[in-house]
Amino acid sequence: MKPSPPSPLLPILLFTIFFLLFPTIITSVSLPLPPTPSPSSPSTSTLDTIQLKALQSLNIPTSKNPCIQPSFHNATQCDSSKPFRHLISLTLSNCSSSISLSYNALKSLSTLQSLHFLNCPIAPIHFPPQLTYSLISFTSINSLRKISGVWLSHLANLTDLAISNVPIKASGPYVFLPHMKKLKTLTISKANLTGYLPKHIHSNLTHIDFSSNNLKGNIPSSITMLDSLESLNLSSNNFKGEIPSSLGDLISLKNLSLASNSFSGSIPDSISAIPDLTHMDLSSNQLNGTIPKFISEMKNLKYLNLANNNLHGIVPFNMTFIKTLTMFKVVGNSNLCYNHSVLSSKLKLEIAPCDKHGMPMSPPTAKDSSEDDSSDSDYDDDDDDGSIHKREHHHGTNKFVLGVAIALSSIVFLIVFLILCSKCCR
Ligand SMILES: *[C@@H]1O[C@H](CO)[C@@H](O)[C@H](O)[C@H]1NC(C)=O
Ligand SMILES: *[C@@H]1O[C@H](CO)[C@@H](O)[C@H](O)[C@H]1NC(C)=O
Ligand SMILES: *[C@@H]1O[C@H](CO)[C@@H](O)[C@H](O)[C@H]1NC(C)=O
Ligand SMILES: *[C@@H]1O[C@H](CO)[C@@H](O)[C@H](O)[C@H]1NC(C)=O
Ligand SMILES: *[C@@H]1O[C@H](CO)[C@@H](O)[C@H](O)[C@H]1NC(C)=O
Ligand SMILES: *[C@@H]1O[C@H](CO)[C@@H](O)[C@H](O)[C@H]1NC(C)=O
Ligand SMILES: *[C@@H]1O[C@H](CO)[C@@H](O)[C@H](O)[C@H]1NC(C)=O
Ligand SMILES: *[C@@H]1O[C@H](CO)[C@@H](O)[C@H](O)[C@H]1NC(C)=O
Ligand SMILES: *[C@@H]1O[C@H](CO)[C@@H](O)[C@H](O)[C@H]1NC(C)=O
Ligand SMILES: *[C@@H]1O[C@H](CO)[C@@H](O)[C@H](O)[C@H]1NC(C)=O
Repeated sequence: MKPSPPSPLLPILLFTIFFLLFPTIITSVSLPLPPTPSPSSPSTSTLDTIQLKALQSLNIPTSKNPCIQPSFHNATQCDSSKPFRHLISLTLSNCSSSISLSYNALKSLSTLQSLHFLNCPIAPIHFPPQLTYSLISFTSINSLRKISGVWLSHLANLTDLAISNVPIKASGPYVFLPHMKKLKTLTISKANLTGYLPKHIHSNLTHIDFSSNNLKGNIPSSITMLDSLESLNLSSNNFKGEIPSSLGDLISLKNLSLASNSFSGSIPDSISAIPDLTHMDLSSNQLNGTIPKFISEMKNLKYLNLANNNLHGIVPFNMTFIKTLTMFKVVGNSNLCYNHSVLSSKLKLEIAPCDKHGMPMSPPTAKDSSEDDSSDSDYDDDDDDGSIHKREHHHGTNKFVLGVAIALSSIVFLIVFLILCSKCCR
């Protein structure tokens, strides 16, 4: 007997399911659309011809009218003066080393307020005095081969200075810093800068990044005067001595890194008085003493790295506090331990649990790690470097995997369906 033909409803149903799923699959797999080009605004007036000639003499690739916004790679920006506009911002990126900035060209460009060099290994330039007056923002990233402290000290009207990956020849920041009285943001990173922090840094700075240099000595306690400071990065230098408790006076501080120096002594309790501190990295120093319990009262703290020091005693935090952090690291403190009835071994802090005297149990045994399986499984599959990173970024990946799975199963489904269909329609 012939099998009864399948109900005509079934194929329709399957098709409906497939095509309902299909848009979901597409959206989970698709890449972001390319940005739609914005129409360039018509030029109302043009650049001063002398400045245009100067730009052309520098062989800088710009559009015909460098004042049209957005300009080619954002390299140029003009003011709105009439009848001719003037250049106020110039960015030179990826230039060939054969380019040479002539003194005369720079002189006619002395309306510039911002001058940025990115990957321009050209010879250092003698700036005309007019330009040194007018500049308020100067950047040299991997550019100009080397910069002298005396040369920098002439840029006295700067509010923003960023130098990275360029050696600075100066016997210390005191050579140029005291001359820059209007400075707000200061980055001098990977510049092999030597010397000491100046005793008196003026007070309007909001950002200081001296990371990866050869600076030495103490943090002067006069740092307390920087009450606008939001970010202080002294990482990877040769600083030593105690962290001054006056650091707690930096009431605007949000980011602090003193990592990879030779700071010693204890973590000052005063740090916990900084109301908005969100990022604190004191790793890889020689800090001793215990971890101040007050740290757990810092409402805005998200990132806490105390790894590789000589801290001892019991980690004074509970799960509630540690879960508010996106990053917490204490590995590499051999005398530090955690109370296993307070903190789960699943945190993988990579320090020993405490014995009943509050001393590290040694060596940590395999049994320890299976002791309190009952507690939180939140950190189950964290990476193994002893740090805790919350996993918000996995959501996208999960969605993607789901999309692909649905797509694959739908295709298999469709093929099976088509085979069935072709068999019964014969
Ligand atoms: C160009 O500069 C504007 C304003 O500073 C900025 O919003 C934009 O993202 C920049 N575009 C590029 C490609 O850098
Ligand atoms: C400079 O080079 C970098 C890396 O090769 C590239 O990402 C960037 O877009 C370039 N910038 C300009 C303005 O050409
Ligand atoms: C700083 O700029 C002012 C004008 O705003 C100018 O008078 C002064 O000479 C400049 N100072 C230096 C040292 O460049
Ligand atoms: C700093 O000095 C080291 C060693 O002398 C050198 O390898 C490095 O390239 C220098 N860095 C810069 C930015 O010149
Ligand atoms: C700091 O900024 C304030 C207000 O912006 C200004 O009045 C003061 O002169 C500045 N101080 C210095 C040393 O530049
Ligand atoms: C602090 O550091 C974080 C992460 O490095 C960064 O996203 C943020 O912009 C920084 N904030 C300040 C004020 O420097
Ligand atoms: C400090 O500088 C280092 C190196 O430039 C960087 O990796 C780190 O994120 C910075 N930290 C803060 C808190 O800004
Ligand atoms: C911590 O280090 C300082 C200076 O290195 C030392 O004077 C002090 O005795 C040490 N304290 C402890 C508890 O080890
Ligand atoms: C965890 O520690 C915080 C800060 O010390 C405290 O406010 C909170 O009550 C503690 N939570 C528990 C469950 O012990
Ligand atoms: C560990 O925590 C428990 C519960 O809070 C407490 O009873 C015990 O004394 C703590 N152990 C140590 C060594 O402090």
